[in-house]
Amino acid sequence: MSKEGVAASADTLLCASTRLLHAGVPALRDGTGPVNVPVVRTSTVRFEDTLTHADYHRRRAAGERVAAYGRHGLDTHRALEDAVTTLELGHRAFLAPSGLSAIALVFLALLSPGDHALVADSVYAPVRRVDSTLLQRLGITLEYFSPAHDDLAAKIRPTTRLVYLESPSSLLYEVLDLPRLAAIARDCGVMVATDNTWSGGWFHQPLALGANISIQAATKYIAGHSDLMQGIVVVDSPALATKIATAHEALGLGIGADDAYLSLRGLRTLPVRLAQHQRHATEVAQYLQRHPRVTRVFYPALPEDPGHALWKRDFSGASGLVSFEFRDADAAAANAFVDALQLFGIGASWGGYESLALVAAPERLREHSRWTSTRPVVRLHVGLEDPQDLIADLARAFAAR
Ligand SMILES: Cc1ncc(COP(=O)(O)O)c(C=O)c1O
Repeated sequence: MSKEGVAASADTLLCASTRLLHAGVPALRDGTGPVNVPVVRTSTVRFEDTLTHADYHRRRAAGERVAAYGRHGLDTHRALEDAVTTLELGHRAFLAPSGLSAIALVFLALLSPGDHALVADSVYAPVRRVDSTLLQRLGITLEYFSPAHDDLAAKIRPTTRLVYLESPSSLLYEVLDLPRLAAIARDCGVMVATDNTWSGGWFHQPLALGANISIQAATKYIAGHSDLMQGIVVVDSPALATKIATAHEALGLGIGADDAYLSLRGLRTLPVRLAQHQRHATEVAQYLQRHPRVTRVFYPALPEDPGHALWKRDFSGASGLVSFEFRDADAAAANAFVDALQLFGIGASWGGYESLALVAAPERLREHSRWTSTRPVVRLHVGLEDPQDLIADLARAFAAR
């Protein structure tokens, strides 16, 4: 049997990391070929004759994943879609120009005027901008709920079509009980979509736990090198694939082949990068726990974190994001601390190889029903630098007041 044959036929018997490395690898032609899929850039797809052209359009309209035009994405896009579908244990993946556009795509594909959606109050804050600037104008109602305190079943209305989650949440990494929430939604015939960016799709498979749609900002861990913007939507069924495909096509969403290639390259090293982020972030989180100027550390892998038991049950690892609450009530102290850091850049993103720090905006924290403090919170993305150097940098910044 050929090497490709081994990967394809024994796929389900292979470990996840092996499957990830073999997914989307190009077939050999005439007994030879490159390891990596070529970057196929094009706007125009050429056809042998008009019959073939018409046939491609017919197959596309019937839901087949074929490309009749550059926007549909050719081999490089297809390879990335296949690899992410494998990673997320899904049915089909769709690529979008950013994580936020992937989120907006899901809302627009699934909701119509008069529909209602329940959204966890701790989600990535710009979701609220999609709501206030776009969905409200279309007569779609988003209602924010506390996944920990509210009774989801009681909140579901006859018009509820979607429950939208993010686990762990942005900023404070609140771990949600996804199997429980998804079971409630399923019993009421409501779809569940969840933002899986924190885990990179490697530490957590929401579709296996009852969600119908998993969304990632590939901008973060999948790309992994802070050099591109990209979003990915993975669905669990052909029916959902049709809905997402229709909106994806209507909105004209597409990404460049170079960016698809970079994400595919990022995927090959996702498990090793994430393992290292987790090791370093755990060391940093434990250091912060011992520091007198820190009152609380938010990192689900710590036994003291309120989400630890759920994280242990539903995740196989933790990312490089660590937040902590400053003992000093004064926001200026947190700003001075961040300004004094030398190895941590100041930046809003995360998921690249580098360490970053940011003071969380108090108005963003207040959106989380779980947050009752007024103390400042600093969010760190712990990168792949040596953790001893990072801890020395943090110690210096704490001392420099
Ligand atoms: C959890 C989460 N989801 C989605 C996004 C949006 O991704 P993008 O910046 O690619 O639009 C971000 C960006 O920070 C994020 O943190």
